[in-house]
Amino acid sequence: MQEVKILDKEFSLSISEEEINTAVRAVAENINNDLKGKDVLFMGILNGSFMFASDLFKHITIDCQITFVKVASYQGTMSSGNVKRLIGINEDIKGKTVIIIEDIVDTGHTLDNIIRQLKGYEPEKILIATFLFKPDAYTKDIKIDYAGIEIPNDFIVGYGLDYDGYGRNLKQIYTLKS
Ligand code: IMP
Ligand code: MG
Repeated sequence: MQEVKILDKEFSLSISEEEINTAVRAVAENINNDLKGKDVLFMGILNGSFMFASDLFKHITIDCQITFVKVASYQGTMSSGNVKRLIGINEDIKGKTVIIIEDIVDTGHTLDNIIRQLKGYEPEKILIATFLFKPDAYTKDIKIDYAGIEIPNDFIVGYGLDYDGYGRNLKQIYTLKS
């Protein structure tokens, strides 16, 4: 499919299944080379990362575990409004090498928040593996250790990423038409 319509918006194909697979394998290969001999915990951030996490994990050959967490908005007890909390951590993270698996890093706010909370669990090291990265939108200094594909600052859907909850099932990536 060259074009898709999701809800009220039209998108056109920008990253093919083949390009996706090549990028996923490259990330896996780099992780396998860098982290040989380490006990690694992959931590997928739901919902968006489920597809990348699954494809990536199939190509990982080092000793490792995987878990999934979610960043949930909840109303704090103080009147300070919405706080984004990391939920679903039940593994023992202390002393482990944790690789955060993200679908996309845009401004980096989400990532920054996740890392701050994760540090409270005292992992030995936190690494970042994101499938997509928008360098022009990125506002943080946090090093992105592994990025599958760098993309322009446009809105995209597919391969786990959504527009209003839809489009995650597309196996290629589509960019919003301007
Ligand atoms: P950040 O906090 O600005 O880095 O944004 C991260 C989150 O925004 C991602 O985890 C996605 O859920 C969402 N997001 C950012 N860019 C896109 C996009 O182009 N399409 C769909 N979701 C996006
Ligand atoms: Mg996300």
